[in-house]
Amino acid sequence: MTDSYRSLLFLLLPLVGCPTPEKSDTGETGDTDTDTTDTDTDTDVAETLSETGCYAVDPSLTECPAPADVVLDQVIPATCGATVLTVDGAGELSTGCAYIGGAVPGGWCLYPITVSVPEDPCDYGRPLVVDGRPRLAPLVRARGWTAPAAPAQADAAQAATWARIGLAEHASVASFSRFALDLLAQGAPADLVADAHAAALDEVRHAKLAFGIASAFANDTLGPGPLTLGDLSLSADLAALAFATAREGCVAETLSALQMAEARDRATDPAIRAALTLIARDEARHAALAWRTVRWALLAGGAPVRAALIQAFATPPTLPGDDASGLLPPPVARAAILRGWAEVVVPAATALLGGVPAVLGGDRPAA
Ligand SMILES: [Fe+2]
Ligand SMILES: [Fe+2]
Repeated sequence: MTDSYRSLLFLLLPLVGCPTPEKSDTGETGDTDTDTTDTDTDTDVAETLSETGCYAVDPSLTECPAPADVVLDQVIPATCGATVLTVDGAGELSTGCAYIGGAVPGGWCLYPITVSVPEDPCDYGRPLVVDGRPRLAPLVRARGWTAPAAPAQADAAQAATWARIGLAEHASVASFSRFALDLLAQGAPADLVADAHAAALDEVRHAKLAFGIASAFANDTLGPGPLTLGDLSLSADLAALAFATAREGCVAETLSALQMAEARDRATDPAIRAALTLIARDEARHAALAWRTVRWALLAGGAPVRAALIQAFATPPTLPGDDASGLLPPPVARAAILRGWAEVVVPAATALLGGVPAVLGGDRPAA
């Protein structure tokens, strides 16, 4: 088995090098108070949010269980990667759920819930971040986003996991589309713009693969509904673009690529292993695109970009809790993130910035 961590680091290091910025660079590393984003990087306290959660119940039930009887870690939140904290009111019976079609055995109750949203909530590729929060389309019964997949035994948990992956991959399409426009707006070279568009097409393929597998596990045809995009805006300047690219691409996609590779190595189903092989390979290339982009931005933008990048890399990713659901068991996911941060992100960021590891938030993510 190849070592995905060393392979990715060796792919990234030649891309980031140790550039000498063209513009004046004071080399100051202590002042990170740049106006690059409204993302709050100064707190370890996860944000909370009120939303609706889906809870699988016996379809013969005529009313939903009392909130106190709901098992929290079996509630599926609407926000990508959120942890359910409380059930806040009575549930409503439903034949469908925001995430799973009604053909999955069991009925559903929809509850008002409160969730905590970690800073890096999505494990599945480049997030579409709007106002500091990842955005997904709703899951619906829909044709057109489902690649053929081998029939599978109905499995609600697997269907939920793969539907979540599908929605995250679908959101990545929009994320790369916005990224391409951002690059054009900041005068980026053609190769970065072309690769951003190519990456968006990769994400279409990933989404179709994931929805295909989800649909097979759900015995249904699942896909994304309309994705709210009217309030999207482009980066204010090159420093803001560098900050967003560092967080969403250099950190999130690098760690996602490594987790996908871990999941691929553990997969026993041939169809799932093939899908994860393709996705992990593409995500590593997307991570490399992010690192190439921040290097270009650093060379072109000088000191403001450098300060933005130092700020972006100063906050380690959060780790999934024991109740997190996903492709990897939480302890394995945490180990992959820890190792990816220490052995890939920190060395690559250090090379990018010319060797300033002391500002990179230490070598371990926050627990
Ligand atoms: Fe992807
Ligand atoms: Fe990606």
